[in-house]
Amino acid sequence: MRTAFTELVGVQHPIVGFNRSPGVVAEVTKAGGFGVLGASAYTPEELDAQLTWIDKQVAGKPYGVDLLVPEKFATGDPDNLVASLRAQIPRAHIAFVRGLLEKYGIPETPPGLASHDEIAASLSPRGAQALLDVAFSHRISLVASALGTPPAGLVARAKNEGVAVAALVGQAKHARRQIDAGVDVLIAQGTEAGGHTGTIATMVLTPEIVDIAEGRPVLAAGGIASGRQMAAALALGAAGAWCGSVWLSSEEDVANQAIKTKFLAATSSDTLRSPTRTGKPARQLRTAWHDEWEAPGSPSALPMPLQPMLVSEAWRRIDTAADAGHEGALRLESFFVGQVVGSFDTIRPAAQITRQMVAECEQRITELGALL
Ligand SMILES: Cc1cc2nc3c(=O)[nH]c(=O)nc-3n(C[C@H](O)[C@H](O)[C@H](O)COP(=O)(O)O)c2cc1C
Repeated sequence: MRTAFTELVGVQHPIVGFNRSPGVVAEVTKAGGFGVLGASAYTPEELDAQLTWIDKQVAGKPYGVDLLVPEKFATGDPDNLVASLRAQIPRAHIAFVRGLLEKYGIPETPPGLASHDEIAASLSPRGAQALLDVAFSHRISLVASALGTPPAGLVARAKNEGVAVAALVGQAKHARRQIDAGVDVLIAQGTEAGGHTGTIATMVLTPEIVDIAEGRPVLAAGGIASGRQMAAALALGAAGAWCGSVWLSSEEDVANQAIKTKFLAATSSDTLRSPTRTGKPARQLRTAWHDEWEAPGSPSALPMPLQPMLVSEAWRRIDTAADAGHEGALRLESFFVGQVVGSFDTIRPAAQITRQMVAECEQRITELGALL
């Protein structure tokens, strides 16, 4: 298959594998798709190590990096960012999270793991800049950003270095702003998607964005986990499919076994959009965590990045305990995932997922042609 996207980045198949696990990114790229590493979960040093490993694995084949660069962000003292942000978290919120962990009997985790404060601070404009500096020192072909237009300087720098710039959009007006900011690829992300997402469905959004993209490649995102869905995206005028959730059902994904098991049991009705992890609405698996935040008297989520700073330690404890089979933690355990979670029935290698989706998409397009 040749599309405007495969031509732009030089890949065989119009399928993108977005994931935070370097193993998924490398395997999707090696299978002829385009792997994109979600960089926001990493410190600059960790990102450098991950990209160095990917560079070795893919041996020159193209891949990209994705960063969350929120336009709206709680401000703090730039010279003392973490402490000044932490001071803005109300005591009542801290007490609520502490009480929730106690109620479910979540044990403490051993000290010594990487600081999640640092990762939350990496969402600041300055933090994102440090990650970008690392990304540009590797052989990336595309840099994607979400949660607003790319920061000043990113587009110019990318153009200078021959790196394509992509942006996730959830509404037509966002796409117009991205075009004005100079992005090369628009990712039309529908509400079905896992992670931060708006309210318009992929089926409605994709053709809207194609119509205003003025020939730029548009990738459809949200609700694509099979070749049939990929063929539908191409039929809507997309130049490819940007997939996130499906890789959570891959062997290379770094999520713990507890959450993978929950994903395999989930139906397409078992997700919700909630701001309680990041401060912005993000689709995730619905669990007792959300029931607690929605109960009468519970506090509202704080803005980004205060909410992730408030809850990241709690999530580390929940994830660790859930992985060890702790009953209370298993009730709370959740992660970002889209409505396609209902279609997960097995954990497979990422390369196999890539090849099967592409083969099924090609078959479906051939079958559709035969309808004429
Ligand atoms: C676990 C998970 C984490 C995500 N994190 C990010 C992120 O950091 N940056 C981003 O641009 N998109 C993020 N997304 C959204 C994906 O880039 C993608 O648009 C979305 O997953 C597509 O819909 P799907 O989940 O139905 O495949 C995330 C999605 C998932 C499932």
